[in-house]
Amino acid sequence: MATICPVALLHQEANTSLLKIRSAKTLAESSKLTSIPSHCTFTNSTSGDQAVHPDHDDSIPIIDFSLLSSGDPDQRSKVVSHLAKACQDWGFFMVINHGVPESQMKAMVNMLTGFFDLTEEEKMEFKGKHVLDPIRCGTSFNASVHKVFSRRDFLRVSVHPKFHCPTKPEGFSEVLTEYSGAVRKLARGLLKGISESLGLEPGYIDKAMNMDSSLQILAANLYPPCLQPELTMGAPPHADHGLLTIVLQNGIGGLQVHHDGKWVEIDPIPNAFLVYTGDHLKILSNGKYKSVLHRAVVNDKATRISIALSNGPSPDTVITPVEQLVDGKNNRAMHIGMKYKDFLELQQSIVLNGKSGLDGVIIQPELSELQHSSVLYGKNRAF
Ligand code: OGA
Ligand code: NI
Repeated sequence: MATICPVALLHQEANTSLLKIRSAKTLAESSKLTSIPSHCTFTNSTSGDQAVHPDHDDSIPIIDFSLLSSGDPDQRSKVVSHLAKACQDWGFFMVINHGVPESQMKAMVNMLTGFFDLTEEEKMEFKGKHVLDPIRCGTSFNASVHKVFSRRDFLRVSVHPKFHCPTKPEGFSEVLTEYSGAVRKLARGLLKGISESLGLEPGYIDKAMNMDSSLQILAANLYPPCLQPELTMGAPPHADHGLLTIVLQNGIGGLQVHHDGKWVEIDPIPNAFLVYTGDHLKILSNGKYKSVLHRAVVNDKATRISIALSNGPSPDTVITPVEQLVDGKNNRAMHIGMKYKDFLELQQSIVLNGKSGLDGVIIQPELSELQHSSVLYGKNRAF
């Protein structure tokens, strides 16, 4: 039987009768899509491994945010040391009792479902022309450089310090304003605990990173079910820029984080957020805290939607390792200072040069290479 691959279809778009099928979603819904040929699949040759379930002795950290804001100093210091361990050992944690109302989370999932359900013609309006446009949607796949084919529909929107939002579906702007505000508040609360966990004043990171003007970017993804999920990858391994990425999903799992040399599956907990610590927390902490590698796999049954909000410093802030965490001997500064916006532009230029795999903002080259090395374009740890 002839097989049709979603990526191949995208490449062959001009000479097929499926000219109008452009997104991963519509491709998955196409009745002609039967299986994925081998030339069109994710190869595990570099990452090489199946994911495992978390160990009982080394379970995924769960942070109860309500204890962090409780007046009880004992409770607070327990959570702070829990946070330190999570950031140091994993670079990842789940957060419960976070104060973001369930109704706002549901409304976001509904809005994004509605957005991805818009017709291709309607979505055209939000495609964006340049990778740094404040609103941009599309289908992400890459075939040419890393031999990794990923497929997902995505929407990227810059929501702070200046708020942007697609005009469809109706009501999106109100829902996104409320939700992104609530998540910013959560991020700032977590950063207080993280500051303390580094032995700094609770407000240190907030002030040093000018969080009143923090750059917050929505990165939503839709991964349709896939007939041969074991052969493809929703989002290839990468780490996120910024301080904290806070992710909501529609109850369907698929995220895996790299921990102790293995890919670990993250089973969803209802109403909990997933939190990755990003590259700029790694820089600030002079490498004490991780910037975790993660990836998303797809399944053959249900559509997964993930709604990430990346919370970074203000674009003009120069990020360097915190002075107190650096000395001239054992803890030399591992990174030079760079403005957050310059970092993002540099990262984009790498993507635009065709040396990186996906659609830009979330792909993270190794910082030391990015900042120190002349082989800037050659190596990219994301793959
Ligand atoms: C991201 C990301 C993975 C997911 O948006 O940075 O890694 O959970 N998403 O789908
Ligand atoms: Ni990511």
